[in-house]
Amino acid sequence: MKIRKAVFPVAGLGTRVLPATKAMPKEMLTIVDKPLIQYVYDEAREAGIEHFVFVTGRNKAVIEDHFDRMFELDSTLAARGKKAEQEVLAQNQPEAGAVSFTRQQAPLGLGHAVWCARDIVGNEPFAVVLPDELVLNTPGCLKQMIEAASQLGEKSNVLAVEAVPDHLTHQYGICGVGKRTGKIFEVDGMVEKPPKGTAPSNLSITGRYILQPEIFKILETQERGAGGEIQLTDAMIGLAKSQKFYGVEFEGERHDCGSKAGFLRANIAYGLKRPELRDGLLAEMKKYLGS
Ligand code: G1P
Repeated sequence: MKIRKAVFPVAGLGTRVLPATKAMPKEMLTIVDKPLIQYVYDEAREAGIEHFVFVTGRNKAVIEDHFDRMFELDSTLAARGKKAEQEVLAQNQPEAGAVSFTRQQAPLGLGHAVWCARDIVGNEPFAVVLPDELVLNTPGCLKQMIEAASQLGEKSNVLAVEAVPDHLTHQYGICGVGKRTGKIFEVDGMVEKPPKGTAPSNLSITGRYILQPEIFKILETQERGAGGEIQLTDAMIGLAKSQKFYGVEFEGERHDCGSKAGFLRANIAYGLKRPELRDGLLAEMKKYLGS
């Protein structure tokens, strides 16, 4: 099963981090020196993804600019002999034709956002990556999932899952756990944002999915679910009647950068991983911690 395309739903309003996201997309918030969207793009590229599909919305045009070539900047850097900076720009530049943008015209939910990518994805398995969740690890989360998928049968769907404290299960999609082989298990039921005390396990669906294209047919007629939105989890419950779903407990630290605390924590975690920043950052942190 070759996964060539990844869908990035980036139409969300980012209301949890207002006013930062009033005029700027939340996906452009910066962790150290890269916008969130660049981290998930890099993760997808590391996993072998060849085509990147962004489902955007109003006020998100700057994401398109971010993945374009900036001739003025490039030639100014060249004229000034700033080779290192030119290299940074070149490193993560998608090839021409390797990115597509389509708009989710109304905020109808994650399931609807994914459905908006149906024509660009076509009839092949694909990944979905939610950009406000970063997973700090090498190899990245999506690469781990694609490796896991290569051991599974054709027409398998794969979800990245992580254990969360019981009192938080109502904030996520949650999986029931069937037969397990190491870090991979058969998903035995799913529920989106179960009321407190009713979750089938504490394994939350995180923002990484490998899905079969049959999901689009189900999404087409999907009714609104939790929160009045068209939920991807509900469509997956439908697809699970005819195809297998597997959960993968990935290696790595997950950061929810769509929340203020998660965003700050990610900046510290990613900053400490950078050799050129680590010592200085630690010294500053010690000052604040008083030791
Ligand atoms: C979405 C999914 C949910 C998943 C979560 C991960 O929810 O619907 O199943 O657990 O992402 O972040 P949202 O955070 O958009 O409400």
